[in-house]
Amino acid sequence: MWLLLWRLLLFAALGHAHYTTSSDVVVYHTLPHFWTGVGFCPAGDISHTGIATALTSPALQLNLRQIGALPFGAITHIRIHWLLELVQLLEYSTDGVPRYDYEKFDAFVDLLQELRLSPVLEFMGNPGQVFTANPERNWFLWEHFTKSLINHQLARHGAARLSSWRYETWNEPDLLNYNRINFTAQSYLEYVQAVRRGLSKAGGRRKSKRQQQLYRALRGPAGLFKAEQRHPLCWQLLEVCNEQLAKCPIDILTYHRKGIDGSATEILNGSLALLAKIYHDYPQLQQLPVANDEADPVSGWSTPRDFQADVRYAATLMSTVMQHWHAKLAGGVMDQLESISHDNAFLSYHPHEFQQRTLLAHFRMNETQPPHSQFIQKPVYAALGMLAKLGTRAADLELVNMDSKHSVQVLRSISGNGVAQYMATIFLSPEQAGPQLTAYHHKYTLNMSIANESAFITELLVPHSTDPFRVWQQAGSPAYPNATLREQMRRAQTPRLYETGPIWQYNSELVVNSASLPLPWVMLLRVCSAAWPKLKRPQQLEIVAITGREVFISWSEQPRSTQCLKSYEVWFRASGDTAASADWQQISLGWHLPYPSFQYAPGLNGSVNGFYKVRGVDVFNERSTFSQIVEYLEL
Ligand SMILES: *[C@@H]1O[C@H](CO)[C@@H](O)[C@H](O)[C@H]1NC(C)=O
Ligand SMILES: *[C@@H]1O[C@H](CO)[C@@H](O)[C@H](O)[C@H]1NC(C)=O
Ligand SMILES: *[C@@H]1O[C@H](CO)[C@@H](O)[C@H](O)[C@H]1NC(C)=O
Ligand SMILES: *[C@@H]1O[C@H](CO)[C@@H](O)[C@H](O)[C@H]1NC(C)=O
Ligand SMILES: *[C@@H]1O[C@H](CO)[C@@H](O)[C@H](O)[C@H]1NC(C)=O
Ligand SMILES: *[C@@H]1O[C@H](CO)[C@@H](O)[C@H](O)[C@H]1NC(C)=O
Ligand SMILES: *[C@@H]1O[C@H](CO)[C@@H](O)[C@H](O)[C@H]1NC(C)=O
Repeated sequence: MWLLLWRLLLFAALGHAHYTTSSDVVVYHTLPHFWTGVGFCPAGDISHTGIATALTSPALQLNLRQIGALPFGAITHIRIHWLLELVQLLEYSTDGVPRYDYEKFDAFVDLLQELRLSPVLEFMGNPGQVFTANPERNWFLWEHFTKSLINHQLARHGAARLSSWRYETWNEPDLLNYNRINFTAQSYLEYVQAVRRGLSKAGGRRKSKRQQQLYRALRGPAGLFKAEQRHPLCWQLLEVCNEQLAKCPIDILTYHRKGIDGSATEILNGSLALLAKIYHDYPQLQQLPVANDEADPVSGWSTPRDFQADVRYAATLMSTVMQHWHAKLAGGVMDQLESISHDNAFLSYHPHEFQQRTLLAHFRMNETQPPHSQFIQKPVYAALGMLAKLGTRAADLELVNMDSKHSVQVLRSISGNGVAQYMATIFLSPEQAGPQLTAYHHKYTLNMSIANESAFITELLVPHSTDPFRVWQQAGSPAYPNATLREQMRRAQTPRLYETGPIWQYNSELVVNSASLPLPWVMLLRVCSAAWPKLKRPQQLEIVAITGREVFISWSEQPRSTQCLKSYEVWFRASGDTAASADWQQISLGWHLPYPSFQYAPGLNGSVNGFYKVRGVDVFNERSTFSQIVEYLEL
C-alpha cells in the first residue's frame, strides 16, 4: 500500500502567523451520522381536519419532496407534531374497544416512504376525543391504540422497514400548549407505560431472536426540563426511571435544548448543564442513550432572523454537529449522545421567505392562476448535504488558529480499507476574525494512506456566491420573483465547485487562498482512491409539476456509491414530431448539481413535455449508467 502525503495550505488574511501542523498519527473513531433528523409542527388547527389539511397541502408536500431530495443519508428521520391526528376514530365495538381509520395516515406515511424519510412517531393526538372521553380507561386505550397502529403498519410495510422508524412520547407534555388532554402526574405515567406496552405487544407475542432485534425503542419525554415545579411531568418520569431502571418505560432519554442568541456553543452548553444536573440527581439514567430533539440555535422558528437566511445558519448547524462530536468523544456527560435533530423542516411564509428557521425559502406565487409554490434551497440545506458526505470514521475536531481568538474547525473522516479508500474533511471558518489584514498562511497537513491513484474535489459554501437570499435582496426582495430571478437564486443554491482533479503525486498540495473568501465559509474536501466503488445508476427518477412549463426533477442515490460524485447531468428529449424532438439535450449544462434534484423551467417558448434521464459524473470524470427514461406530459 502506498502512502499519499496530502498537504493543504490554508491562507488566511488575518492576524499573526500561527503555524499549525497536525500530528502524524490521527486516531479515527466510528462516526455515527447522528445529526440526520429534522422536524416541524404543521400550521393550522390541531384537529383531524386541520392537520390533514396542512399535511396534504401541495406546498407542504413539495417542501418535503425537496427535503427528500438531499444526498443519500443526509436526512433520515422527520419528526412531525400531531401526525397521529391523521388517524380517525371510526366507532367503538360493543365492548368499548375503538376502531380506527388509518387512510389519511397511511397515505402520508406512503409519501414519506417514497421520499425515503422515516417518521418519528410521536404518540401525541386524540383521535375522535377517545382519550379525553374515557380518562379512566387511558391505560388500556393508549396500549390498544399503539398496538393497533403498529400492527397496521407492520402489515403494510413489514418489520424490516419499520425497524428504521422512531417512536417517541408526547412532545413537551409540561407545556399547556401541547398538553391538550390534561395529563396529570399520574395519568401521564400511565400513558407512557401504556405506550411502552403497546409497542412491545405489537407484532404478536413471539419472542424469537429476530423479534428481539426488532425491539421498538421508546424515546421520551421530549421535555424542556425547566424548573421542576414548572415541568413536573418530565422530571417525575426521570425520578421513576431512576428508582428502577429495569422498569423504566423509555429507552432513549430525549430533551430539547436550543441556543440563546444563535450560537452552536450555547446549544451544547445547555445540554452539558442539563445532563450534568440529570445525572447528579438521577445517576441511574447515565445508562440511557440521550438525544436532543430540537438542537436549534435559537427558539421561535417563525421569528425572522437574517442569519437564518444565509451561510451563517449553515455554518452554525455544521458547528453544532462538530461540537457535539467533540463532546461525545470527550466522554463526560455527552458520552451517551445518540442523535440530535434540527427543528427546521417548516414551511416558511411571506414576507419572511428566507429568514425563518427553515431549510428552504418558500415563495407562494399568488399571481399565477392557480397559485403555486416555488422553493429555493438555503445554504443550511446545502450544509446537510455536505455533512452526508462524511465517512464512517472520524478524528476528533481540530482547531487551526487564524489569530489569537479565532480558529478554523477541521473535521476529517475516512471510509474503507486497503486500496479502496475515501476521505472527507470539513473546514469551517470562524464567523469573524481579528482586524489585521497581513497575508500569511496556515499550513495544514492531511496525511492520507490511500491508494496511488486518486482524485479530489473541494466545494464551498461562502457568502455572496452561495447566497440566494442576497440575490433576492439585490433584486429588491420581490414577493413574486420572476423566472429570471428564480434561476439566478437557484444557481446560487448549491455548494460552489472550487477545485477538482486527479492526484498524481504523493506530495500533493492544495492551496486554498482564504484571504479572498468572505467569512464564514465552509469547505468540503473529498479524496477518492480509484478503487473506491463506482457511481451507481440513479434510481426512481420522478418529475412533478410546479406550474405551467416548469417541473421539479428528483431521483434517489444508491448507498455507498455517491461519495465521489462530482455532479449530475439531466437530459431531455422533447416529445412530438418537431425537429427539436429528435435529439437528447443536456438541460443541466453549466449547472453544478451535486444533489439529486433539478428544477427545469425552459421558458415561454420551451416545453417540458418529453423524456428525461439522469446520470452522475465522478471526480475521475467517469459517468454512471443513465437512469431509466421517464416520460412527462403536462395536463
Ligand atoms: C501517515 O500516516 C500513516 C498511518 O496513519 C503513518 O504510518 C505514516 O507515518 C504517516 N506519514 C507521514 C509522512 O506523516
Ligand atoms: C382540561 O382542563 C381545563 C381546565 O381545567 C378545562 O377547561 C378543559 O376543558 C380540560 N380539557 C379537556 C379536554 O378535558
Ligand atoms: C459555556 O459554558 C462554559 C463553562 O460553563 C463557559 O465558560 C462559556 O462561557 C459558556 N459559553 C457560552 C457561549 O455561554
Ligand atoms: C498504481 O499502482 C499500480 C500497481 O499497484 C500500478 O500499476 C500503477 O501504474 C500505479 N499508478 C500510478 C499513477 O503510479
Ligand atoms: C425579473 O425580475 C428582475 C428583478 O426583479 C428584473 O430586473 C427583471 O427585469 C425581470 N425580468 C423580466 C423578464 O421580467
Ligand atoms: C398569498 O396568499 C396567501 C393566502 O391568501 C397569503 O397568506 C400570502 O401572504 C400571499 N402571499 C403573498 C406573497 O402575498
Ligand atoms: C419566443 O419566441 C418568439 C418568436 O420566436 C420571440 O420573439 C420571443 O423573444 C421568445 N421568447 C422567449 C422568452 O424566448
